[in-house]
Amino acid sequence: MHFEEGLTFDDVLIIPQYSDIEHRSDVSLATKIFSNYSLELPFVSANMDTVTEYQMAFAMAQHGACGILHRYMSIEEMLTELENYKELFVEHKLDYQSLIVSLGVQDEARLEAAYGAGIRHFCIDVAHGHHALVKKKIQAIRDKYKNEVHIMAGNVASYEGAKALYDWGADCIKVGIGPGSVCTTRIKTGAGYPQLSAIINAAKAKNEIKNKELFLVADGGIKYYGDITKALAAGADAVMMGSIFAGCKETPGIVWRNENEEMTKSFRGMASAAAQSEFGIENINEEGIALTVKYKGSVRHILPRMAKGLRSGLSYSGAKTIRELQEKVRFVKITSASFQESKPHKASR
Ligand code: XMP
Repeated sequence: MHFEEGLTFDDVLIIPQYSDIEHRSDVSLATKIFSNYSLELPFVSANMDTVTEYQMAFAMAQHGACGILHRYMSIEEMLTELENYKELFVEHKLDYQSLIVSLGVQDEARLEAAYGAGIRHFCIDVAHGHHALVKKKIQAIRDKYKNEVHIMAGNVASYEGAKALYDWGADCIKVGIGPGSVCTTRIKTGAGYPQLSAIINAAKAKNEIKNKELFLVADGGIKYYGDITKALAAGADAVMMGSIFAGCKETPGIVWRNENEEMTKSFRGMASAAAQSEFGIENINEEGIALTVKYKGSVRHILPRMAKGLRSGLSYSGAKTIRELQEKVRFVKITSASFQESKPHKASR
């Protein structure tokens, strides 16, 4: 039997270090998730049907971040999404940065249609990415389109999983099995890996491959903005989030008032019973839940706050860039009493 220990965001803090950063604006949050796909902010909205369609992806792109289009729609609907997304750039007179489109392992026609519409960045999105079918899919795409397309693939949660995806030809991998806010994978199956260690292990695989520029997106489990700093420090180039963006104006779905007259929106795991029945998916283990979340207003107001928190996070390590943060970071493992101390609390008499 093999046994190892893993840690997640709440298990650690970043040790503050000497800093000569005088203004938080001296800190750059610029990053890349493909060799030709730069971001000013390392934030990615999740490819979930209650999080990212064209309006969300556009709002993210306008702020220098990005969103990945989910795959739970027909090919015709996807093409309309792509057109609408592009049109927003032309209306707003902005430089168009193409959308990243999700694919399942059997999505041949979707891939061809998206490619025909000019898409060159894809995200092969399966719950267990360290899988023979993903290998086959990546290799089939590489055989057909060579290096004309850029492939993100996932999800994995181990060094071996990350190394395999890179070896199979992925340019970027997505790390996270079961950390997500609406995931029940770990509870239902017993499988998964604490997210901070999963990122560290995947980053080790990435850094060992020297002959190619590779990227890593940490996917899921962000509860506090400080977790974003920890995920990047651990080795991620960008962080994908669902729950942080759920309930925003730009997410798909309507706003409705609950019994307390609060404005709410729906948010659900893609493997929840609700999502599976809507998309006619059968014979897949239910590994997610559906919720209503409070309406948050526009993501345009949230992104600057996240960026501010992250700049401050980098400055505590004396780091002016994400790369510098990764080189300098020192983590301390904490106890649950320390975690309690980290949260707002009252003094007792
Ligand atoms: P957060 O914590 O940001 O996580 O809301 C978003 C990520 O959760 C994953 N996801 C799921 N995982 N069952 C799962 O085990 C599900 O039903 C499910 N739906 C989404 C996904 O990686 C997403 O980006």
